[in-house]
Amino acid sequence: MTTNLLYGKDIRSDIDVALSLCAMVVTDDNVARLYPELTKNAFVIPAGEKNKNQQTLFVLLTEMNARGLKRDDKIAALGGGVVGDIVGLAASLYMRGIAWTCIPTTLLAMVDSSMGGKTAIDFLDVKNLIGAFYPPERVIISYHFLETLYEEDWLCGYGEIIKTCLLTEKSFDLLTENLDRIAEYDRDAVYELIEKCIEIKQAVVKADPKEKCLRKILNVGHTVGHALESADGYKSTHGEYVLKGIMTECAMCKDIVDEDFYDNIISICRRFVTPPRTSANNVKQRAFQDKKNYGEMITVMLPAAAGEILHVRIAQDDFAERYDKAIKELKRV
Ligand code: GLY
Repeated sequence: MTTNLLYGKDIRSDIDVALSLCAMVVTDDNVARLYPELTKNAFVIPAGEKNKNQQTLFVLLTEMNARGLKRDDKIAALGGGVVGDIVGLAASLYMRGIAWTCIPTTLLAMVDSSMGGKTAIDFLDVKNLIGAFYPPERVIISYHFLETLYEEDWLCGYGEIIKTCLLTEKSFDLLTENLDRIAEYDRDAVYELIEKCIEIKQAVVKADPKEKCLRKILNVGHTVGHALESADGYKSTHGEYVLKGIMTECAMCKDIVDEDFYDNIISICRRFVTPPRTSANNVKQRAFQDKKNYGEMITVMLPAAAGEILHVRIAQDDFAERYDKAIKELKRV
């Protein structure tokens, strides 16, 4: 299924039209409070990663049935990554699949999770353990939603922007040129980076929609990042864990990362986050459950240089050793 994607500074009228075509709109309690006019008849789920679970999924499916949704009805997700992930999964399951529209309201969802059809809930303490590839029929990205974000939501989005910008030389240059401006929340710089991320994400997902090979590059920083996130009980935002993941994974594999690039990437990450404190054993066990792994090894998608992502497989004991060494090194510098 191809997704119809629209984006721009303020495209509220397109959102109004899209929502009017949906039988049900789902949002979270933050978005409902901030945008009452858009969410009048919406079904409201509790915000936050800790609610991206089977209870919320089944409450939502029950409501879809109570509202009499049929197979040819559409459902809309109006919110951040959690709302998109859970609504997309519910859409994939309800009557074996109904169409859905995704309207991201956070920076993270605009640059990453709204595109590409990854839907999921967290299960058995593992992030995104249950999910499906089920792309939305339509994605509408209107930057005006950024104006109601908290600082931590900006930071969260920056994590995925920085990750995506590591994937090509041009985007890495664009990131480094604009780093000071985005640190000051300069809107034009942020909009330019959003559009670069959309372009990269669309190209990657088009080439490999089900993550058989190329799409794995979008998981840079995510092996350690996801492990830290679940070990920490989702206390900080996803993007912050991605940045901690990028700096740690680069430090763990310092021997194969380009020297200048290493210094550059560590200093970029340090601008926004501090190194992790979680123990090696805890991270190792969680990283071992990562979906990218096969065999007894842990997989890391390593940015070895700008635009050069390596698929690195590390044995579990080696992983713990390298992690401990990396943390020490990151603390020292
Ligand atoms: N967020 C990574 C992906 O969509 O593949």
